[in-house]
Amino acid sequence: MEIDNKKAHELKKDFPIFKNNKGLIYLDNAATSQRPQVVIDSIKDFSEKNNANIQRGLYTLSEKAMKKYNEARKIITKFINANEKEIIFTKNTTEALNLLSYTISEIISKEKDEILLTEMEHHSNLVPWQQLAKRNNMKLKFIKIKDDFTLDLEDAKNKITDKTALVSIVHASNVLGTINPIKEIISLAKEKKALTIIDAAQSASHIKIDVKDLDCDFLAFSGHKLLGPIGIGVLYGKQELLEKLPPFLFGGGMIKKVTYEDSEFADLPEKFEAGTQNISETIALAEAIKYVQEIGLENISKWESELFEYALKKLEELGDIEIYSPKKNNISILSFNPKGIHGHDVASLLNEDNIAIRAGHNCAMPLLEKLNIPSVSRVSLAFYNTFEDIDSLAQSLSKIKTKFN
Ligand SMILES: Cc1ncc(COP(=O)(O)O)c(C=O)c1O
Repeated sequence: MEIDNKKAHELKKDFPIFKNNKGLIYLDNAATSQRPQVVIDSIKDFSEKNNANIQRGLYTLSEKAMKKYNEARKIITKFINANEKEIIFTKNTTEALNLLSYTISEIISKEKDEILLTEMEHHSNLVPWQQLAKRNNMKLKFIKIKDDFTLDLEDAKNKITDKTALVSIVHASNVLGTINPIKEIISLAKEKKALTIIDAAQSASHIKIDVKDLDCDFLAFSGHKLLGPIGIGVLYGKQELLEKLPPFLFGGGMIKKVTYEDSEFADLPEKFEAGTQNISETIALAEAIKYVQEIGLENISKWESELFEYALKKLEELGDIEIYSPKKNNISILSFNPKGIHGHDVASLLNEDNIAIRAGHNCAMPLLEKLNIPSVSRVSLAFYNTFEDIDSLAQSLSKIKTKFN
C-alpha cells in the first residue's frame, strides 16, 4: 500500500489518540509510537474473552490464551526471520540488553577484554556495558562519529581487533537518525570472532530486519516503538548462543525440575522467561506487526523519507537553525537547535501550538557532550504524519524564532 499525503491522513484515522486529542501534532514517535485501533482492541479483547494465565492451566480458557500467545510468538519470530527458540520476550530493549550484559561473560573467551560501542549509543546500550566492564575489568571503546553525523567505518576497522569481545551498536540513532552500516560492522566483528549485538529499538518500525541475513548474534527491540503496547520487548539470540547463556531471572516458568536443593532449567525460550509474562501485550504486539506488514515496511520508510526531506527543507528555509542529523540514510529523525534558543524552550513553546516533540539530552548525554550542546530538539516522524504536520511545525518554529530575536 503506497503512502502519499492523502493516504497518511487516512491512516491517521486508524489511531484513536488523534480523535481524542483534537489538533494534536505528534512528532515524538521515536519516544513511543501511537497505537492503531487493532492493537487497542486486541488488549481489550484478551481481557474480555481470553484472560487466563498460560502454561499452568489445564482448562479451556487457559488453553485459548496459550494458543493466542503461541500464535503471537510465531508472528513476532517471522517478522525478523528468526526461529521460535531464538525469541525471548522481555519488557523492552533496555531489559533485553541488561539480560545480555548480565549473562554474556559466560560466552566471552578469556583473552578478549574489550567492549566496542559507538559514540551515538542510547544510555540503554551504554550503561549496562559500563557495568559489565566494571564487573569484569574490561575496557570500553567507541567507534567515532564523523562531522556528517555518520559512523567512521575506518575507525571501526581499527578498533575491532582480536581483543574485541563484543560489538554492540545501535542500528539507527535515536538522536541523529543515522542508519548505521550494521552489516559491514557485523562482518568485521566476525572476522575477529567478536560477538555482535544490535540495538534495533529505533529501526524495527522503519526497516525490514532479517537476522539471518544480518548474521548478528543478538538483537533487541521494543514493542511500544512499533505501534505495540508498552511492556513488551524482544531479545533475539542465535540458538546455539542462547543455549550457552545462563538464565537471567529465576523462578516459575523457567524450570524443568526443582528440588529443595537445586533446579533444572527449561529449554529455550522459557529458560529466559521466568514468571508470568505480558501475555496480552505480546498478543497485541503481533497485531501491531500484522498492521505494519499490511502497509509494508518499504512503503512506510519511503513515505517517511519523503516527509523527512520536506521537514529538512522547511527547517533550512527558516534559517539560523543548527541541524544534527544526516540528510541521507536517515530513519526520519531530525534533531536541531534554533540558534540561541534552548531545546526545552522550543519544546514547551511548540506545545502551546499542540505540537509534541522531544527535547533535552534524549538519553544520550555523552553524544550531546561530544557535539558540545546542552540539549537538542528532536522531531521524529511516523507514516501517519503529514505535510500539514510539518507545515504547522515550521510556522510555530518561525513564531518562536521571532519571539526570541
Ligand atoms: C536507540 C534506542 N535504544 C534503546 C532504547 C530503549 O528503549 P526502551 O526504553 O523501550 O527500553 C531507546 C529508547 O528510546 C532507543 O531509542
